[in-house]
Amino acid sequence: MHKGVFVLALVVFIPRAAEALDNGLALKPTMGWLHWERFMCNIDCDKDPNNCISEHLYMQMADVMVKEGWKEAGYEYVCIDDCWLSHQRDAKGRLQADPKRFPRGIKKLADYVHSKGLKLGIYADVGEQTCAGYPGSLNHYDTDAQTFADWGVDLLKFDGCYMDWKLLGEGYVNMSKALIKTGASILYSCEWPLYEWPFRQPNYTAIRETCHHWRNYQDVYDSWSSIKSILDWTSSHQDIIVPAAGPGGWNDPDMLVIGNFGLSHAQQESQMALWAIMAAPLLMSNDLRDICPRSKKLLQNRHIIAINQDPLGKQGYCTAKVNDFEVWERPLSGNRLAIAVLNRLEIGGPRDTFIKEVPGWKICSPLCNVTQILPLYKEMGVQNPESNLVVSVNPSGTALLTVIPVSGDFTGLHSLL
Ligand SMILES: *[C@@H]1O[C@H](CO)[C@@H](O)[C@H](O)[C@H]1NC(C)=O
Ligand SMILES: *[C@@H]1O[C@H](CO)[C@@H](O)[C@H](O)[C@H]1NC(C)=O
Repeated sequence: MHKGVFVLALVVFIPRAAEALDNGLALKPTMGWLHWERFMCNIDCDKDPNNCISEHLYMQMADVMVKEGWKEAGYEYVCIDDCWLSHQRDAKGRLQADPKRFPRGIKKLADYVHSKGLKLGIYADVGEQTCAGYPGSLNHYDTDAQTFADWGVDLLKFDGCYMDWKLLGEGYVNMSKALIKTGASILYSCEWPLYEWPFRQPNYTAIRETCHHWRNYQDVYDSWSSIKSILDWTSSHQDIIVPAAGPGGWNDPDMLVIGNFGLSHAQQESQMALWAIMAAPLLMSNDLRDICPRSKKLLQNRHIIAINQDPLGKQGYCTAKVNDFEVWERPLSGNRLAIAVLNRLEIGGPRDTFIKEVPGWKICSPLCNVTQILPLYKEMGVQNPESNLVVSVNPSGTALLTVIPVSGDFTGLHSLL
């Protein structure tokens, strides 16, 4: 018998609200670019060769993402949406890309994107057809999952058109299993709850076990009214959806439309700030080949991205709607808090609000360190619960702050006080 060797076995139970699809993917919200909102189903490459859905579009975006700092900022996935497919499956029943627009096929495109150190996303549909009428994956889940794995695809956006809503859950679960069975690391982006909400409240425990992120609400448009409707839907359903989010699974409020035509700069700042608070996937849909420097700077703002990607992985929520201000907060790692104050009054100029009137301000006890990230980066120093600190918010803009409580040992802080 061996003597003096003791092995202490610890069994640790970590309680979790819901089990995530546990394959090490999407531990932080996905970042990348997705063609839909900006390029839609533009398939006329004779008339519009530069903007049509073809392999060139994704190769050019991949090139720009590397050259212009997007990859370095964290944007990693180059994603194809609807309209890439041929209308016919091949002789072996496999999906195939439109041969005119993707002459080298998806595998070659994936190789190209990988050679740039980026990842490729693709699109398919749980039902009989995609939303734009291309072949759907119903009754072909195993074949299609294997095809995507063979091509080296890294993400699947799986839409929910042309599907009996009562079979949505089964279809999404079956595809999830088919993807896992391939052994490839394919991130799985679902639209299951979006298509189920009109009929009943979706089961977010099951969705989180199945998908890495999931769309809940309508497609984003390039307009402030669209952004507001997404925020309103989210705040009015936050008790149901916020607990479902965490490392491995995220609510997806749809693409960032920053850098397009419809939003003022203040509104672009609001989308960026609130998408960070919501722990949303940051999938830009814009033309990275031609984007205004101010939008680019906002999309690459490392302070906002750090809030979005915070390792605690808790989704934020709305805490107050008062005086045409909307206050959102997000708990961050290190006992920090992000606070967003959105000015919903669309008349007049910038309006001030006392930060001490914001619910989350109670975290500032006995002292805290405040940094404003939007509209301008500003270190606001050490504050106390009675501080008369004021933030100024532009109409339809957002002030974004981080608050770090300072407590315990005050030595070393005297110079700040
Ligand atoms: C899902 O898979 C189960 C088990 O193979 C099968 O019975 C069911 O019909 C499938 N549902 C759909 C929608 O594919
Ligand atoms: C929701 O899904 C979970 C996990 O699949 C399951 O255990 C639970 O019973 C479902 N809840 C309802 C109300 O159907």
